[in-house]
Amino acid sequence: MHIHRYERWWMIFGVTMLVVFMATIFVAAFADNINPPTGSQTIDPTKVYSTPPFDHPGLHRLGDGRYEAYYVASVFMFTPAKLQIPVGANVTFYVTSSDVVHGFEIAKTDVNAMVIPGWVNSASHTFRTPGTYLLICNEYCGIGHQTMYGTIEVK
Ligand code: CUA
Repeated sequence: MHIHRYERWWMIFGVTMLVVFMATIFVAAFADNINPPTGSQTIDPTKVYSTPPFDHPGLHRLGDGRYEAYYVASVFMFTPAKLQIPVGANVTFYVTSSDVVHGFEIAKTDVNAMVIPGWVNSASHTFRTPGTYLLICNEYCGIGHQTMYGTIEVK
């Protein structure tokens, strides 16, 4: 079969780019350890509000600038709806759902996690810039989805 010279160049270019992109993904995942937020911790979604630590949602101080924040997502709100964080704090968010699938995205940060009932997802961020950050649900979860948000005040 005869393949035109230009056609062959494009095929080589296309395959080369595929290899480059695949290599980039593997380097990011294994050498740089950049991975999507994942959670392997499970929880009974019908007992979220009585299961520690989600029975006391909110910010918990660990020391030397590190914090943990526990969030429950439910139709159509986040608990807590408002959170105050000191500037420079490194916060690991743990979030679970008591009903359906929600999203957990903090605008202007790289925190963006899917919240699946029965699972605890987590993501970390260091808040170096003061201000009010918007926490939004970015998975369609029902008729009130667009009203599901919270705020995080960093000061
Ligand atoms: Cu919760 Cu959309």
